[in-house]
Order: sequence, then C-alpha cells, then structure tokens
Amino acid sequence: MGHFQHHVFFCTNQRAAGESCCNALGASELRSYAKERIKALSDTLPGPTRINTAGCLDRCDLGPVMVIYPEAVWYTYVDKEDIDEIIDQHLVHGRVVERLKV
Ligand code: FES
Repeated sequence: MGHFQHHVFFCTNQRAAGESCCNALGASELRSYAKERIKALSDTLPGPTRINTAGCLDRCDLGPVMVIYPEAVWYTYVDKEDIDEIIDQHLVHGRVVERLKV
C-alpha cells in the first residue's frame, strides 16, 4: 500500500458565467469542509487520507464531482450532509454510497 489509504480529488474548477462547473455549485466550500472533517476524524480513519483540489475532471454536467482512489469511485454531492455520508461510509467504513455515485 502507498503512503495514503485514500486520495480524494474534488474538482473545484470555475468556468465562465453560464457554463456548468463544479465551483459554481459550492465545490470549494465543501472541499474545505471535507478537509476539516478529515482532520477531526483522523483517529477514526483506517489510514492517512488526503483531500486534494483538482482542476476540471471532465464530468462537468454531473457536478459537483469528486473521485476517491484507489477505488476510483465517483460521487456528486449537494451539501454538507452528503459530504458527511461519503466520509462516514466510504472513507471510515469502506462502504460505497450508492445514492451519490455518478
Ligand atoms: S468543472 Fe468539474 S468536472 Fe469540469
């Protein structure tokens, strides 16, 4: 296994007004929220977990999107409750959150 148990990439790309993009749907704010929660939960996580910022991941119409490796599972989310569920289920317990998969 590598140094990290999980790498989470949040697209925070901002496109021109009127074009669909993850940042217009709150991606940066919710990425920061996820980072804080991961820090707070570090003793509960199965291993080191990194929250990264990514540019456009080329799935703009499904956004906002994130992808978690090594499983390569893609999610969308709309609010902090969705982020909490992804963290608690996927990152802590290793269970894919089917309702948020894209
Ligand atoms: S702007 Fe997020 S996937 Fe393209």
